[in-house]
Amino acid sequence: MLALTLAATGLAGAGTATAAGPGVALTADVSRTTSSVNKTQFGEIVEDINHSVEGGLSANVVRNSTMKENGIAHWSAVTAGGGAGTVSLDTTQPLNAANGNSLKLSIADNARGQRVGVANDGFYGIGLAPSTKYTATFFARADGAFHGGVTVDLESTTGTVYAKATVRSVGAKWTKYSVTMTTGRDTPVSTANRFVIAADGVGAGSSLYFDVVTCQPPTYHDTGLRKDLMAKFAARKPGFFRVPGGNYLEGNTLSTYFDWKKTVGPIENRPGHQDDAWGYWSTDQVGLKGYLDMAEQTGAQPLLAVFAGYTLDHTVVPQSQLAPYVQDALDEIQYAIGGTNTKWGAQRAADGHPAPYDLHYVEIGNEDFFDGTGSYNTYRFPLFHDAIKAAYPTLQLVATTSVSSRPVDVIDDHYYSGDTSFFTDAAHNYDGTSRNGPKHLVGEYATTNGTKDNPTGTLAGAVSEAGFMTGMVRNADVVIGASYAPALADVNDFQWPTNEIAFDAGSSFGSPSYWVQHIFGNNTGDYVVSSALAGAAAGLNEVVTRTAAGTVYVTVANATNSPVASRIALNGTRFVRPNGTATVLTGDPNARNTLAAPNTVAPTTTAFRASNSFDYTFPANSVVALKVDTSAPMTPVLNVNRGLSLHVTTPGATDRSVAVTDGVGAASVVTASSPDAAKLDATFLLRPGLADPSCYSLESRANPGQYLSHRGDRITLGTDKRSATFCAVEGNSGIGVSWRSYDDPGRFLSYRNGKLSLAGCEHPADSSFTVGEPWWRSDVSVPLGRSSWQANTGDYLRHQNFVAKTSAITAGSAATDLQDATFTLEPGLADDSCYSFESVNFPGQYLRHYNFQVVLNQNDKSGLFAEDATFCATTGHNGQGISWQAYAYEDHYLRQYAGNVYIGADGGPRVGDAASGWADDTSWQRAAPWAG
Ligand code: AHR
Repeated sequence: MLALTLAATGLAGAGTATAAGPGVALTADVSRTTSSVNKTQFGEIVEDINHSVEGGLSANVVRNSTMKENGIAHWSAVTAGGGAGTVSLDTTQPLNAANGNSLKLSIADNARGQRVGVANDGFYGIGLAPSTKYTATFFARADGAFHGGVTVDLESTTGTVYAKATVRSVGAKWTKYSVTMTTGRDTPVSTANRFVIAADGVGAGSSLYFDVVTCQPPTYHDTGLRKDLMAKFAARKPGFFRVPGGNYLEGNTLSTYFDWKKTVGPIENRPGHQDDAWGYWSTDQVGLKGYLDMAEQTGAQPLLAVFAGYTLDHTVVPQSQLAPYVQDALDEIQYAIGGTNTKWGAQRAADGHPAPYDLHYVEIGNEDFFDGTGSYNTYRFPLFHDAIKAAYPTLQLVATTSVSSRPVDVIDDHYYSGDTSFFTDAAHNYDGTSRNGPKHLVGEYATTNGTKDNPTGTLAGAVSEAGFMTGMVRNADVVIGASYAPALADVNDFQWPTNEIAFDAGSSFGSPSYWVQHIFGNNTGDYVVSSALAGAAAGLNEVVTRTAAGTVYVTVANATNSPVASRIALNGTRFVRPNGTATVLTGDPNARNTLAAPNTVAPTTTAFRASNSFDYTFPANSVVALKVDTSAPMTPVLNVNRGLSLHVTTPGATDRSVAVTDGVGAASVVTASSPDAAKLDATFLLRPGLADPSCYSLESRANPGQYLSHRGDRITLGTDKRSATFCAVEGNSGIGVSWRSYDDPGRFLSYRNGKLSLAGCEHPADSSFTVGEPWWRSDVSVPLGRSSWQANTGDYLRHQNFVAKTSAITAGSAATDLQDATFTLEPGLADDSCYSFESVNFPGQYLRHYNFQVVLNQNDKSGLFAEDATFCATTGHNGQGISWQAYAYEDHYLRQYAGNVYIGADGGPRVGDAASGWADDTSWQRAAPWAG
């Protein structure tokens, strides 16, 4: 619960500067945005672990609903007044093919005034509340001489009835019964209750049979999902739900993975399965639709994880047998978003959801780095990728480990650590991540410091996670989102030590980590603002965001044990509204919440006085979000020294790019198959503004040294610093970027009828552009023909037994070594704006990467070979020579290390591969060919 507290002394800061003045300067230019915050920035992962779903999100309070959990576990006979009966498992007359077990109640004695029934003890009890309506459904049949009905009730474990309903008669055929019952006003809030179906004084000598028994209170938006848990999710404003898991998706074997087709349709037709990842029975009553509903009902997108042919016991589906699993994934996506005229879209409609779900991301598998066979890279990811992209080209695909065989849209990183400084130290993990490679999802992360009695962590762990989150938001252009994991745990039975929200049958509480998620979800703007911390000790991390309307959020995680006095400067705005609000989570770093004391660690909101420069003291062990209203305009900040193309924003003209051809600026049609000259004309290198480095100059890729300029209102190429400088502002039409002339600030780069000009903003849409990937992929031109390539160590790139290496080469080296170190540079096999390296002594054989290694292979003319053998030239990362970017894997560059050559990202391709030395290791000098 958030408490709004106004400081007693009026609009005083939560802390004030020390007499010596604040030691830390936090400066933000709130008019300059570096990227957008993603809608998916803060997510959830829900898998069935710790009874998150079965006994948790599933609102059905009846455990072992289908008599498949160790026979009839959690059911017992209940008798009163001298009635007698027993319960047993019956398999003689199945309800249907999916559910063949039933609960048999054999009634021995049951005269008037007596009672014989079945009782279910729920999931560690059944939570009841006063004045609450419960709906029970069950299938039943009777045999022998049973004539009469049954009563259904919710009662205490000692037999006090709180809610009751009657079924007038039960017949000989399986029939579905449905009743509602409401607890009285004086029903105690308690979990010491049971669910009972009983025959009152009838049926002696006969038997009753039950199957698929459910009972639930009102559910969240009528989804069948438990209200308090869903409300907690919704309150923290999640952007996505990564469903369904986790290890739960994979299962231990090919008969226990999440086989989604068995989880849709009427619940009585669902066989359920052993959740052997986590050790309990899953009825699958929530099922695929329930997972999709979790996202939709909390305003989030589902991030759908599909089973990818690998199970936790290391079974790998062979390539020859993978096709049905790929088809299952396609069908699953069709269930989520297909039209109702498709087979699975129709099933979704029949299940009660005709509209498609808001699906944009599909994850292929889970943690496939555990598959040591390499099958994920060689065929599993490619087969899923190709099939899904062919059917649903706009879906973004998430890989669960490094892949070089296909371009990857997003890669899922997981982090767990028991160390409460781990995530503070990880706050800058993504600062150096390549902006040309895949985006990142942090699909699982948490400080794992729960205890055997409490499945949630401490404030210290949560503050550490908040530090990491500041870094992920600062890098929102490359980190699409993150989900703390796992989301839920039953305090009575959990398999994972530390979770976001814990519950029992009656109530729930958020951990300190939950409150961190809550603070970020409710206190993050739509754009990241450039900010800096000076004078801060390690342990303090910040991110500043804003909305388009000018509300600024300064979010700081202080993982130190001392308060930190700071001076906060909000530049780039004339006006700062004085009454800001501070949401503060702080306390004993070792404190945790419990069911009995759920708010030991919870945020409070106070008022403070804000201005363009104000002092604020961040408490020890705290997460603070300061909210301030400003009048700051919006100015995007773009990555300098990179190639880009500018596209017009007119609907239906997505192939129109800004180009300058023969001195005339135009909005030209450029596509992947345009001639090289057209691609070069439409590619610019973004440089710091020649007249003002806070603006930009666009250097022509076709004419290096010439910049996009204006002569009067005409757009052309030139070198005049002022007319070649443009300032990027938020797109005049509300999308993309508009380019304001530096020396004529009332005018913008515009396009009308295909012509570029400098115009006033009377046609706002015409002056908005979107920034795209460059049409010409190489940033620098490299002469074609024979050459050798020298690494910073002085050694030369060569092949040796068809594997790329570096070694010393001199004029006196053996003739074959000289040849091995010589390549013919050709236009790239996959894209002639890049390059390929053909061996001089093995013509037709090219350097290519394969599973990160670089080898010499015969050109097999396949598209995959062409891509793997194509490298784009960029300026050397160490400022000299050339860095060679892998064409199909933009994050990766040709890298040498200790005599070996591979393609590596700045974090390295494998765990433990240090980033240090990366700039030198990926920079190559062109040298005269050793072989003539
Ligand atoms: O979040 C708990 C487990 O951790 C997930 O099931 C799995 O993906 C990871 O190993």
